[in-house]
Amino acid sequence: MEKRSELYAGKAKSVFTTDDPDLLVLVFRNDTSAFDGKKVEQLDRKGMVNNKFNAFIMEKLKEAGIPTHFETLLSDNEALVKKLDMLPLECVVRNRAAGSICRRYGIEEGKELLPPTFEFFYKSDALGDPMVNEYHVRSFEWATDEQVAKMKELTFAVNDVLKALFLQGNMLLVDYKLEFGMFNGEVTLGDEFSPDGCRIWDAETKEKLDKDRFRQDLGNVVESYELVGRRLGLDFDA
Ligand code: ADP
Ligand code: TMP
Ligand code: ASP
Repeated sequence: MEKRSELYAGKAKSVFTTDDPDLLVLVFRNDTSAFDGKKVEQLDRKGMVNNKFNAFIMEKLKEAGIPTHFETLLSDNEALVKKLDMLPLECVVRNRAAGSICRRYGIEEGKELLPPTFEFFYKSDALGDPMVNEYHVRSFEWATDEQVAKMKELTFAVNDVLKALFLQGNMLLVDYKLEFGMFNGEVTLGDEFSPDGCRIWDAETKEKLDKDRFRQDLGNVVESYELVGRRLGLDFDA
């Protein structure tokens, strides 16, 4: 496999083509962004930590039968993935209230959400990733009914796997964002799962261990991501 030209540079990762039209290289950079790119900083080692964190989680999801784009780690900050035709949506599941749901509806942070709630966001930095409903998704032809149903099914299946995994490490999976795309007609999990795109709290102290440390200037951002990984059994030096 040969890495070729840069296809796209996002806020945190760059995407490269390869000599295989079905495969891409994702490069995890140290750039850390929040508030739709309004706050950006370089955090030492973050690319490596998120790349290895994501590989670890994607393997767990694959073992659980969830179709993912992940193929293999290539280096400390690169992964080989299947090239997906991305659906322009972010799928968010929330087990507890935090972040935008508290601001939008006046819900107290930390409230347990039973059942967990699901939201679609339209992926557009220019529009500030607005929340959209299933009618918008269908009317604007962002996804078909079948794709909507599959994204919801897979996002909740991920919840079952990861809630249990984080609990074993004495952590709560508060919420998370997934992105899907199409590969050979199949809705497939793409992008990444790392502390950049989810909220994780210590189960006892409720200490924030995810990107809220960056958003809220709590410090020790990457150290905290590594701690989460180690508590899941991940060896970042492997
Ligand atoms: P953003 O675009 O939100 O700033 P990133 O910096 O993480 O995000 O850039 C990665 C980009 O690559 C995202 O737009 C994401 O949708 C896209 N992407 C992730 N996985 C794949 C894949 N397997 N195939 C094609 N595109 C992908
Ligand atoms: P929110 O509380 O800001 O709506 O975010 C909910 C979860 O989804 C949180 O863990 C962050 C993640 N998320 C992203 O990573 N990127 C996004 O663009 C959005 C809307 C949410
Ligand atoms: N991922 C989104 C962004 O980069 C949301 C956030 O992290 O605040 O803006």
